[in-house]
Amino acid sequence: MRAKATLNREYTISTVDKRVYGSFLEHMGRAVYTGIYEPGHEKADADGFRSDVLEMVRDLDMPIVRYPGGNFVSAYRWEDGIGPREERPVRLDLAWRTRETNQVGVNEFADWAKRAGTEMMLAMNLGSRGLDDARNFLEYCNHPGGTYWSDLRAKHGYKDPHNVRIWCLGNEMDGPWQVGHKSAAEYGHLANEVSKAFKYFDKTLETVVCGSSNDKMKTYPEWEATVLDASYDSVDYISLHKYFGNEEQDTLNYYAKAIDLDRYIVTIGGVIDYIKAKKRSKRDVKICFDEWNVWYHDRKQDGERIASWDWPEAPPLLEELYNLEDAIFVGSLLNVFIRRSDRVKIACMAQLVNVIAPILTKAGGPAWRQSIYYPLQYASKYGRGTALNVVASSPTYDCEVAQDVPYLDLSAVLQEDGKSLAIFAINRSIDEPLDLTIDLQGFKRAKVVQHQMLEGEDLKARNSVDDQSRIVPKAGKALAVDDAGTLVGTLPPRSYHFVLLS
Ligand code: AHR
Repeated sequence: MRAKATLNREYTISTVDKRVYGSFLEHMGRAVYTGIYEPGHEKADADGFRSDVLEMVRDLDMPIVRYPGGNFVSAYRWEDGIGPREERPVRLDLAWRTRETNQVGVNEFADWAKRAGTEMMLAMNLGSRGLDDARNFLEYCNHPGGTYWSDLRAKHGYKDPHNVRIWCLGNEMDGPWQVGHKSAAEYGHLANEVSKAFKYFDKTLETVVCGSSNDKMKTYPEWEATVLDASYDSVDYISLHKYFGNEEQDTLNYYAKAIDLDRYIVTIGGVIDYIKAKKRSKRDVKICFDEWNVWYHDRKQDGERIASWDWPEAPPLLEELYNLEDAIFVGSLLNVFIRRSDRVKIACMAQLVNVIAPILTKAGGPAWRQSIYYPLQYASKYGRGTALNVVASSPTYDCEVAQDVPYLDLSAVLQEDGKSLAIFAINRSIDEPLDLTIDLQGFKRAKVVQHQMLEGEDLKARNSVDDQSRIVPKAGKALAVDDAGTLVGTLPPRSYHFVLLS
């Protein structure tokens, strides 16, 4: 098979906001306890944070992490997680039917985020709680001092405010499963009032209103229209969520689901534009895709376990084991975020550690990287700059979820130095190599300085605690720039590529 593409350094889509390579950490399963925090572990630092996990997070150059939920946040009392640890209450978490010890709360998360070199994005509870608790939380986190909540923070050992810039107005409020679920009209009104109050406190804060939990919800996309109608003038982002899977065990169909993600973003972009026009507004609300990932391997079994267990503390939960097939697909989803960087300004892979995560740990044992870690890492490190409009022509296939799906999936980012070009390429074919030429207009003297790929015979191969390097990037050699300034080479079947030109 043959495919060709053209890009030009002047034909740009948008600046890629580095926060599209963000992640998410929820108080559920072993994400926090025995994930990022395990006092007594041989790699734990003085505050109980696992330094092996921190190192892996730092290696992702993680720009932002959403916390503390997720469904968890909709019945969470943030005050339970502050002050002396021995006085913190143990509570029932209604979302996952577990026990929450509150040994980690917002102050510890702030410490962890500093060590991880990442920004905090905090979610407030608009399920079981409301405006007053949210504004107290904000005052506790961000006010310098001299008030009840800010002085309490100082008393707890945190004199300097955390200065959190971005706040999520609840979580998945369209979902009937959510504690305190609301209709779009009820939620839109509440979210608008809370967002306004936050901006009375500090007009430079940014807020994220909840959009749909996925594009199969009965209320989609009317939910977005109603919620934005009520809140357009006061919010900055609308959040979207979507999880993917290869339930049918049909790789090509699975890979085509990246097109569903694209349609979802385009549709909500249209809803935003409609409300903007209706309100004669000059503001642009952007998309914050703050939960996305592959989640299907053990989803059903996990649901059954949750329904029958007796409120355990930090049990293994949603510990999906990702394979090569998933890593290639995750590369494709990241390509969508790059190509839609004009709309999507924040995106969070859900989640970060142990729970549907690129990093796994063993309690009392090692931490290791799953296959999906690598496409996220390359995108995060090298996908910062300006997204270029790549025009490609590739052989296609038809499948259940879409017609004319190109075998070649490409995105390109002109890096912040204005010289280097990062290309992310996927050959979706499971059995045929793809001969590729890319006309690099404006990069005539560029050379390939790095080429890493994920590929292999067995799409189901994955890393494990005993074999942590089954799926790791290997150096590619089959791509080079010829004298005419064309990138030429062959992408093996079932492969993901990161290519850096300079
Ligand atoms: O990430 C796991 C869960 O998925 C989150 O708690 C929820 O927001 C979503 O349904």
